[in-house]
Amino acid sequence: MIIAVDGPTASGKGTIAKALAAHFGLPHLDTGLLYRAVGRQVELTGGNPDNPADALTACGFPDALLEDEALRSEAVGSLASRVSVHPAVRQALYERQRAFALQPGGAVLDGRDIGTVIAPDAQVKLFITASVEERARRRWLEMQSRGAEVELAAIERDITARDARDMGRKDAPLIAASDTLTLDTSAFGREQAIEAALEAVQAKLSKD
Ligand code: DC
Repeated sequence: MIIAVDGPTASGKGTIAKALAAHFGLPHLDTGLLYRAVGRQVELTGGNPDNPADALTACGFPDALLEDEALRSEAVGSLASRVSVHPAVRQALYERQRAFALQPGGAVLDGRDIGTVIAPDAQVKLFITASVEERARRRWLEMQSRGAEVELAAIERDITARDARDMGRKDAPLIAASDTLTLDTSAFGREQAIEAALEAVQAKLSKD
């Protein structure tokens, strides 16, 4: 069973994907982390994230980089969004994601193009969303808890810019697949969002 979980930044898709993986006993891949590693590698090697050749070279990042705490920062999220517009980068990361999706027993993957490109054959596709204001508030609270001094308005601007880039790119833009279940988590807390996602998945599985 493949479960595809897509959505914009801070929508709750990562939390939901992890919870679904734990519930069904499936391995989970946060595909955003791969793009973040490419963005971070470009930065570490002094490359230009907007240059397709530099971004492609960075796809050879060492696996140990996936453990780097810096990958979680907003700055690296923004670099990830910039390198992810290059078709060569998306192509270079495709096989790794596809192989993860096809492993025996199944998998849960979260990202932007899982239901449309990586696993269009997924049994269950969820599109997790929430208002920009709510996503900015969540990200702000998360950063506050890590001791980072940031302005809420600045985060809202960053999220809006990132949404526009992720949705507006030519190759594999962030869009809900036609056969997806959309879940707006704006009014939900963490547990409610997980519960709603689980209910949606179970309803879909019992229908099939
Ligand atoms: O999910 P995230 O915030 O960690 O993703 C960081 C960036 O990586 C996101 O802004 C766009 C890119 N990304 C992508 O293009 N395709 C994916 N499947 C996952 C992430």
